[in-house]
Amino acid sequence: MSVDILLGLQWGDEGKGKVVDAISPGYDIIARFQGGPNAGHSLEFNNVKHILHLIPSGIFHPDKINIIGNGVVIDPAVFRKEIENLGPPVEELSRRLIISARANLILPGHRILDAAQENSKGNSKIGSTLKGIGPAYTDKVSRNGLRVGDILKKDFRQIYDAHMKMHLDQLRIYDFKFNIADFEAGWFEGIEMLKKFRIVNTEYLVNEELLNGKSILAEGAQGTMLDIDFGSYPFVTSSNTVSAGACTGLGVSPKSIGEVFGIFKAYCTRVGSGPFPTELMDETGDKLRKKGNEFGSTTGRPRRCGWLDLPALKYSIMINGVTQLFMMKSDVLSGMGSLKVCTSYCTSGKECRELPFADEKIEPVYTELPGWTEDITGIRQFEKLPLNLRNYIKFIEESTGVPVTMISVGPDREATIVRK
Ligand code: GDP
Ligand code: IMO
Ligand code: MG
Repeated sequence: MSVDILLGLQWGDEGKGKVVDAISPGYDIIARFQGGPNAGHSLEFNNVKHILHLIPSGIFHPDKINIIGNGVVIDPAVFRKEIENLGPPVEELSRRLIISARANLILPGHRILDAAQENSKGNSKIGSTLKGIGPAYTDKVSRNGLRVGDILKKDFRQIYDAHMKMHLDQLRIYDFKFNIADFEAGWFEGIEMLKKFRIVNTEYLVNEELLNGKSILAEGAQGTMLDIDFGSYPFVTSSNTVSAGACTGLGVSPKSIGEVFGIFKAYCTRVGSGPFPTELMDETGDKLRKKGNEFGSTTGRPRRCGWLDLPALKYSIMINGVTQLFMMKSDVLSGMGSLKVCTSYCTSGKECRELPFADEKIEPVYTELPGWTEDITGIRQFEKLPLNLRNYIKFIEESTGVPVTMISVGPDREATIVRK
């Protein structure tokens, strides 16, 4: 069998958690391959909303195996809290969740460094979630990281102390007050929690299961426009959020990739700093934020809102090799009046279809499409959707050349239309 990948095509928060939960019944294994607790993946069923940060969104299906892959960075303190909040006893969860020995750890020093570095940036802050992501990936790449497998070593405490000292040395250059002890107790409790789970070379497990005919869903975090290589650098996260990241973040070869599900909101949002060509700084933006409840799942920050950006979407489709599109939050556009879609950009008066290298001043060029007023949250068949919404989808399909095979009309796992 193959690995299908589900990832965000915009700036994150597209609704990945909801969809992974909704389509998990069709898979044997659900695996996270990058990012860390900067992610906030919401899913809803039986009128209860759950937010996951590190744990794959297949965890609520008792018969599925969930994997945290080597490409993820894990904060043990966050992990412990998340496990405790899930509901089922740890003994049961440890049967369905397996962790890669090669996943890097977020240390208390990483969280403090993240805050100190952001603080030192003044007006050019990235808007980091302050979960220690950048410093943890920096240590991984500079070969100074600690990995989950290390926690089983007898001299782990000494190894940790050496890393802590290294971080304290780095922190000296910042004018930043902190107390590392505030973080350490919870962190070490988290280490004990991690030890209750199977810590294995998940790359072998994943490949063996593929040979056994098992199907795998790789769950992306963040979005393509936040990718460290292809996003709006430096206003990005520190991992490869694109489909290639699933290969390096799980240890699977490109040959084993099947479908690439690209998910996008029917409009756009972004949380944190950085370019956002279609951002609406007016009442329409406020209306989208209110109707879409656009407040961050991890930090609670209001999300910036704007119209759908097709050049950015097409770029993401190209980089990821998207085979199917899933459109999220279609219900939010109901009653928004006529809708604008950005079809190209304009730089220095000239039309340009490519995403610019950096923050060149660009103006979006819009096409206006008629909206719809009907409440669509109860609709479960594509044919019953308002004509103007179907035309909106058709416009996206014709512009991108990729079929929209799923339409989400509400946060609940049931509020999903799969197109036959
Ligand atoms: P993720 O990070 O991609 O998993 O997305 P988040 O969970 O951070 O943000 C998506 C938000 O939209 C969550 O609050 C979801 O419950 C909600 N959501 C997902 N799909 C839909 C939808 O189709 N309609 C509406 N109204 N809300 C949705
Ligand atoms: P999910 O998986 C939206 C943004 C932050 C900031 C930038 C860098 O829920 O879609 P970091 O903490 O990674 O150093 O922050 O990236 N960001 C996200 N925005 N959704 C996310 O994850 C995000 N993870 C990071 O707001 O602008
Ligand atoms: Mg999110």
